[in-house]
Amino acid sequence: MGLAINDASVIYPSAEGRDPVEALRGINLTMGENEFIVALGASGCGKSTLLNLIAGFLAPTSGEVLLDGERVSGPGADRSVVFQKHALLPWLDVRENVAFGLKLQGVDSKRRYRTADKFISLLGLDGFEGSPVYALSGGMQQRVGIARALTCDPKLLLMDEPLGALDALTREKAQELILGIWEETHKSVFFITHSVEEALFMGTRLIVMSPRPGRIAHRFDLPFSRRFLGGEAARQVKASRDFIELREEVLKIIFADEEAA
Ligand SMILES: Nc1ncnc2c1ncn2[C@@H]1O[C@H](COP(=O)(O)OP(=O)(O)OP(=O)(O)O)[C@@H](O)[C@H]1O
Ligand SMILES: [Mg+2]
Repeated sequence: MGLAINDASVIYPSAEGRDPVEALRGINLTMGENEFIVALGASGCGKSTLLNLIAGFLAPTSGEVLLDGERVSGPGADRSVVFQKHALLPWLDVRENVAFGLKLQGVDSKRRYRTADKFISLLGLDGFEGSPVYALSGGMQQRVGIARALTCDPKLLLMDEPLGALDALTREKAQELILGIWEETHKSVFFITHSVEEALFMGTRLIVMSPRPGRIAHRFDLPFSRRFLGGEAARQVKASRDFIELREEVLKIIFADEEAA
């Protein structure tokens, strides 16, 4: 998997007499196999716009987005998206929701249920295959959303604030779960969050975006998820001196941007 975004910009056309919105300008980003890129930045700085470009929901106004050398011209099975609020189908049970993408691809029911059950198990949802999704907690619904994104075996997993709606404890557990899955499946992940701590903990690389127009203002390489996967306890990683120092540095950048905006 190789993603390359070359000098991409996005201008949303004007609506109802308003000025056009320059959401992204001059975005350059490459992403390789098994990378975990996290995007941080103030609300409105263009994080979702960037994700939508990669997903192919949106075309750049100028520049290009290449996936394995091919120009991205729309959504595809090689990329799956997990939204902030799960977008599950409420009339289907857990297994049918997880298998839904495979059904769209025409995979026969035996194979799609076998694959769905594998990811249901990976996400710790054994025993809930036949449950209606409305009967699950928010954290479990979000895990169903992640399982569904994984069943199509995408090269690239795109996550837009997937844990934003969860309480603190569930959120930390979900972070650890996602890192475990990332290690096990070797996916490349593009992950948006508003939490600096979550960003530092999860990513192999961090991009901090600045608003109006959205640009990548800072880039950091991150060692922390590998330390966690190497056996160090999550809270210990997050309480370590280098983690806290970087957290404060990134917070300063974001606050400075907010004040300038
Ligand atoms: N479809 C659209 N039409 C017009 N303007 C849009 C559209 N989508 C987003 N915008 C504007 O583009 C800018 C970037 O929006 P985007 O949703 O990418 O930001 P974001 O960083 O994801 O914000 P948040 O953290 O609040 O989710 C904002 O000013 C937003 O109002
Ligand atoms: Mg957004």
